[in-house]
Amino acid sequence: MYVCGKGTEGYGTILPAVFEAWRAGMVKKVHLAAATCNGAAEARRKASELETIMGVSPDIIYYPTDRDNTSAFQTAVAALEGPAAAFISVPDHLHFEITAYCLEHNIHVQVVKPLVPTLRENRKLIALEKSHNVYGAVEFHQRFDEANLKLRELIQDKALGELLNFRINFSQRKIIPTTTFRGWISHTDIFQYLGVHYVDLIHFLTGAIPTRLMAVGQKKYLVAQGIDTYDSIQTVIEWRHEDSGFISSHLSAWIDPDHSSAMSDQRLEVIGTKGRYQSDQKSRGVTLTTDTGGVEEINPYFSQFYPDIDGKCRQIKGYGPASIIQFLRDVRDISAGRKTLADLSGLRATFATSLIIAAVLEASKQSLSEHNRWVSLDFLRDNSQ
Ligand SMILES: NC(=O)c1ccc[n+]([C@@H]2O[C@H](COP(=O)([O-])OP(=O)(O)OC[C@H]3O[C@@H](n4cnc5c(N)ncnc54)[C@H](O)[C@@H]3O)[C@@H](O)[C@H]2O)c1
Repeated sequence: MYVCGKGTEGYGTILPAVFEAWRAGMVKKVHLAAATCNGAAEARRKASELETIMGVSPDIIYYPTDRDNTSAFQTAVAALEGPAAAFISVPDHLHFEITAYCLEHNIHVQVVKPLVPTLRENRKLIALEKSHNVYGAVEFHQRFDEANLKLRELIQDKALGELLNFRINFSQRKIIPTTTFRGWISHTDIFQYLGVHYVDLIHFLTGAIPTRLMAVGQKKYLVAQGIDTYDSIQTVIEWRHEDSGFISSHLSAWIDPDHSSAMSDQRLEVIGTKGRYQSDQKSRGVTLTTDTGGVEEINPYFSQFYPDIDGKCRQIKGYGPASIIQFLRDVRDISAGRKTLADLSGLRATFATSLIIAAVLEASKQSLSEHNRWVSLDFLRDNSQ
């Protein structure tokens, strides 16, 4: 779904962003590895439609072609020539194996969130990244959303005073757990899939590190459908930065009606001693109502097609593609010797910043399985000092 919009009427985010990078002359050849021949054929069909929409025809080789093969990505890696980068967008439990393989073959990688759900795997990937001297990024596109960059600036300038609370409501439609992720639902939960976005974002906004966490979940709708996973999870996290602390509470759910006016309903509220920031990240002010689609609230800022200046074709724009194209720009700069790996931190989501995510995901599962107890994350602060 995220690569090319499989199962939706759209085209996903990664493939359109790669088309845009092709238009900019950043990409010579694209190797697209699926796990099945049908998956590869579906990607080819979406790519062909994208060519018409976007007015560019990248050189793409598809894998597998003759038989279903979950190792087809290895054939693609073997075919690479010259400086190469890989986007890894597969179910969460496969991130580690495929990312490690690419790093071992000296390929720069950008992995969709969450990088990996365990600290052990995260540390191994950092070690591989270092030993092979390649760049590892994580695709946390919320860092590129201007509504969040404005908040970061306000926090840095102390316009909100001392931070007290973050409150996040983030939910998606029932179709995600019941259909889209049905095949790998047992390998994730709603906090790991959606909640992590704002854990990364809070670290990005504040520089703070989590110190402890507790989680509570509800199982009602999905278990009744034969899917043993939480409908919603509430997570409370204590954070510390320098000598100051604050709390975040995250409500993550995936049982919104399929007729809701947007796939994602997301709201963020931040309260400080001198101010409040409220960001409705679902209702961005654009509502479309049609006979066929009903009422839809469109996010014009995430990943949308817009006409190019000559009015002849469409370009993909938004903070989703921006995060992907920035990775390719970074890889191009490394390959040309304009940047070193040490230069690539700043506002980027890296394998190192993902350690916080992995620790929080482990603690969340522990709290859920141990009667919602508080789980300490103090070791993260010790590591960072
Ligand atoms: N859907 C989104 O908007 C979104 C956004 C950001 C990140 N993500 C992340 O992207 C990842 C994939 O999510 P999705 O929504 O695209 O899920 P999905 O279930 O639609 O797609 C996963 C795809 O991976 C393929 N796959 C499995 N094993 C493979 C292998 N060995 N080689 C190649 N392909 C293989 C599957 O056939 C499937 O097509 C997840 O980690 C998810 O958290 C999704």
